[in-house]
Amino acid sequence: MSKAKVKTAFFCQECGVETAKWAGQCPSCKAWNTIVEEVISSAKPQNEEIQAKNWKNLKSGIHAEAILLDEIISGDEFRYLTPDSEFNRCVGGGLMVGSITLIAGDPGIGKSTLFLQIALQWKEFKILYISGEESAQQIKMRADRIGIKNPNLFLLTEADHQKIFKEINKIKPQFIIVDSIQTMSSPFIESAPGSVSQVKACTAEWQKFAKQTQIPVIVIGHITKEGSIAGPKVLEHMVDTVLQFEGDRHFAYRMLRTLKNRFGSTSEMGIYEMMADGLQAVSNPSEILISQYEEAFSGMAIAASIEGTRPLLIEVQALVTQSVYGTPQRTTTGFDNKRLQLLLAVLDKKGGFQFGMRDVFLNITGGLKVEDPALDLGIVAALISSYEDQSLPEKMCFIGEVGLSGEVRSVQRLEQRVLEAVKLGMRFIFIPKASKTIPRFEDNSIYIIPIQKIEELYHKLFNK
Ligand code: TYD
Ligand code: MG
Repeated sequence: MSKAKVKTAFFCQECGVETAKWAGQCPSCKAWNTIVEEVISSAKPQNEEIQAKNWKNLKSGIHAEAILLDEIISGDEFRYLTPDSEFNRCVGGGLMVGSITLIAGDPGIGKSTLFLQIALQWKEFKILYISGEESAQQIKMRADRIGIKNPNLFLLTEADHQKIFKEINKIKPQFIIVDSIQTMSSPFIESAPGSVSQVKACTAEWQKFAKQTQIPVIVIGHITKEGSIAGPKVLEHMVDTVLQFEGDRHFAYRMLRTLKNRFGSTSEMGIYEMMADGLQAVSNPSEILISQYEEAFSGMAIAASIEGTRPLLIEVQALVTQSVYGTPQRTTTGFDNKRLQLLLAVLDKKGGFQFGMRDVFLNITGGLKVEDPALDLGIVAALISSYEDQSLPEKMCFIGEVGLSGEVRSVQRLEQRVLEAVKLGMRFIFIPKASKTIPRFEDNSIYIIPIQKIEELYHKLFNK
């Protein structure tokens, strides 16, 4: 074999951009010292030859020739229902045939546990779990901890793609999990595993494999400190679905969130609890997210959010204190800091408050991250409550977006939120007056309170 000319390219390890030459600062993401030269050899034709040979026994799902769209017989879209209903919902109602799904998350959050668990529970298919990170013993220990046995589950601790595809050809699995893409290495790319070119090349191979063989592939990837996947967004466009597994390490709850989905909605979310024997799906999230204190505290309010298709009651905690330093602090956990600043500005201007001289801390309990604008009213209520140092009455819930003029704007799927609130025992439910329909209840212990402006909220809460 003649030695191929060594070909190199420069990649930003942060955002994945390819540059012509080395630079101190990345021209795209502006990060410093992230451009690295990576060796890539030009062995492409050979690569494809080997892949074609390796995969030849597996049935083909894509066509090399152009065909008329009209001639394609449309079948029902075929989805596999895995034993994990939270996961099924996140991927749009089941795992699509021939799809490639990327699972991103911080190290240690529980990605390997979740997918080993799904593999152990799913007994009707031949599954291959490929790990480039851990030894067979380590994985066996984790499986013992989960405590499920699956005679159809194969384990392969290997990181070399060439060997992996050979093994796949032998075993002929129907579902594949790759843990993690940062450890995999394609023999055709010479740079180290985990480098941008290597991660990209490996993902491309899995993508092609999934499309050609119609075997669904799950690819696990770590996110970097900055929160991007495999360094960057480079992988997101190569896969069909991107799920992020997240959660506060100090809490037992973990959220599986859909960031991209070619086959379904992107606002889905699954909630799990990390137990001693693996992850347990949480089917009634509202109940666990609301604390059941006997006594009410100032600065606490309950808001009704929608995460994906599910309504979710969320507890918001605010602490407003006199500022010690010149510039007041605004600290948030689980909520957008800019949005908080906006709400504070509206409260200052429209409600006559003086948050400008106070530090504000805001926390969404349970380690949850939320973006639903309908939480605004609950946040405003928590802020006012802490400002006044008066607790809100029990069984009170808030729904509404707050606009720049202090108006309470209508929200999506109001009825679903109100029903969830009532189901969880809420009795005083604030909703936007601008809502098209105001839900009504026969039970006259339930008060639906429509409000138009945040000024009204203050008067209604404290009768002042
Ligand atoms: P892991 O799946 O190894 O994380 P990742 O693959 O995302 O890096 O999860 C590691 C954490 O999960 C570890 O801190 C131990 C904890 N854990 C449990 O609490 N219960 C369990 O049953 C298992 C298997 C792990
Ligand atoms: Mg892992």
